[in-house]
Amino acid sequence: MNRFKITNFPLANKTILLRADLDAPLEKNKAYKVSDNRRLRAVLPTIKFLLQNNCRIIVIGHVGRPEGKIIPSLSVKPIAEEFQKLLPAEKISYLNDCLGKDVSEQIQAGWSKRWPKQIFILENLRFYKEEEENDQAFAHSLASLADIYINDAFANSHRKHASMEAITHYLPSLAGINVEKELQELSKALRPLTPVAWIMGGAKLDKIHLIKKLLPDADYILVGGALAFPFLRAKGFPTGMSKLTPDSVNQAKEILQDRRSSKIILPVDFVAAEKMAPDAPGYITASDNIQTRQIGLDLGPETVKLFKQYLRKAKTIVWNGPLGYFEWAAFANSTKEIGRFIGKLTAISICGGGDTARALQQFHLDQVMTHVSTGGGAALEFLEGNKLAAITALEENYLIFKNKIDVK
Ligand code: 3PG
Repeated sequence: MNRFKITNFPLANKTILLRADLDAPLEKNKAYKVSDNRRLRAVLPTIKFLLQNNCRIIVIGHVGRPEGKIIPSLSVKPIAEEFQKLLPAEKISYLNDCLGKDVSEQIQAGWSKRWPKQIFILENLRFYKEEEENDQAFAHSLASLADIYINDAFANSHRKHASMEAITHYLPSLAGINVEKELQELSKALRPLTPVAWIMGGAKLDKIHLIKKLLPDADYILVGGALAFPFLRAKGFPTGMSKLTPDSVNQAKEILQDRRSSKIILPVDFVAAEKMAPDAPGYITASDNIQTRQIGLDLGPETVKLFKQYLRKAKTIVWNGPLGYFEWAAFANSTKEIGRFIGKLTAISICGGGDTARALQQFHLDQVMTHVSTGGGAALEFLEGNKLAAITALEENYLIFKNKIDVK
């Protein structure tokens, strides 16, 4: 399906409402600061393109899940400060609301003054419950600020929210450079070169349903992180104090009954500790012998060797979720080792999920992968083969506007 792209749309000199992924991790020292600006850097190519085309830019987005309440710790202000560092030659102005007469007056007044091209960044959209309700009136008010809407927020494109979906009913709507790149790169995993190896890890046990969906098409599914424990328990192994839910164990049992479950490769050993602490001593423990007081915090050396055997055979590798508690050096080994190993292979490597991206960045491995997505849930939904709500909205918008606009 077609959609408007910023590179072929007549947008010179227009006012643009740019929906970006502003949901970057914040850390409090004296004040809140962005601790990882990867998502903000992802929108810079679109901002620079718009500036070259003499556009006026209003950036909108959300931080966290304030659920319709004003929560000062989830303000966009530190995000605006980070953008100012990333774009030192531009003037970035933060406004403490995202709609209303005051906002539009401040924008108009700002543009007519000394900095006619200043970039405005509006406050957290999710401070209004209408954002997540996909409210039409809310979307309409946002739309009234600009001539054109651009979605460059790939990580939020699975959300049918007012600034992602409803807004496309009111303005010509374009995909930004980051969105186009994400769709293009992630599509490689939808039509992959085979054999395909999936690495599924991380702490979110609800991802287990994805393993079931992968069974028909994947060649190997290497399971690590907390996601391995439901499978071990389903096989009757003790898992000590490792993370588990009864539902995930039931799902694992069901998956293991599938005749294709031989594609699932489970860990054969772990580095287990007796407490959740960065300095806890780690013991290499066979995966059928985790003790009652132990927690598996990393994959063991035999599992790393085993996983490498499968990865070596793969032509496409899709990785979602770290393999151990990589934030603590003592339990980072398997994530780091497997990352380094993949970096040396010629296979296409596509990585998704916020924690995976953070781990790869921490070990300086993000550049050696074919693609590291800015999206977590959005990338997973896309890789499951689902249409993303906000991308469908762009495609529908194209059908409405294509005859009304003279596109190159
Ligand atoms: C993300 O951070 O992955 C997206 O912004 C979606 O956030 P949400 O899961 O809070 O909707």
